[in-house]
Amino acid sequence: MNKIKIRDRIFEKFLGEEEILRKVREIARKIEDENRGKDIIFLSILNGAYVFTADLLRNINLNVKVSFMKMSSYSGDKSTGEIRRLIGLNEDLRNLTVIVLEDIIDTGLTLEGVIDDIKARGATDIKVAALLLKPDAYKGSRRIDYLGFEIPSDFVIGYGLDWDGFGRNLRSVYRIVK
Ligand code: IMP
Repeated sequence: MNKIKIRDRIFEKFLGEEEILRKVREIARKIEDENRGKDIIFLSILNGAYVFTADLLRNINLNVKVSFMKMSSYSGDKSTGEIRRLIGLNEDLRNLTVIVLEDIIDTGLTLEGVIDDIKARGATDIKVAALLLKPDAYKGSRRIDYLGFEIPSDFVIGYGLDWDGFGRNLRSVYRIVK
């Protein structure tokens, strides 16, 4: 299916399932190569990153813990410019390599809030993995250590990403048709 309709919006296929999974496996190999022998925790940012997290985790052959934070900066298809912490962190991150897992980085505001919280929990070795980055919208200065795809600043759904709550179950990534 190349086009789908969710409520009043039309989306077209942009990244196929196989292409995404190939990239996830590549990211997994890179994480393994660069972090062997370390105690790692994946910190997955809900809601959107749970699909990426599940696929990445099952492709990683290292000792790795997983934890979740829930942040929200989007309302519908727009960033509100403000982040809300819906589920915070409650683990001690000292002596762990923290790898933040994001589905998509847009302005980078969410990531900035996450990193502040992680530092406050004692982490010093922090890395970021994201499936998607919108470079034209990104205002942050941090380099993304493990990146899947750079994409245009159009709204996308699927593979965990939603339009007003729907579309997370799609296996491919779809972008909005203007
Ligand atoms: P940022 O704080 O502007 O970087 O936005 C990051 C968060 O906004 C992501 O974790 C997503 O939850 C959401 N987001 C940004 N762009 C999109 C999109 O194109 N589709 C769906 N969600 C998005």
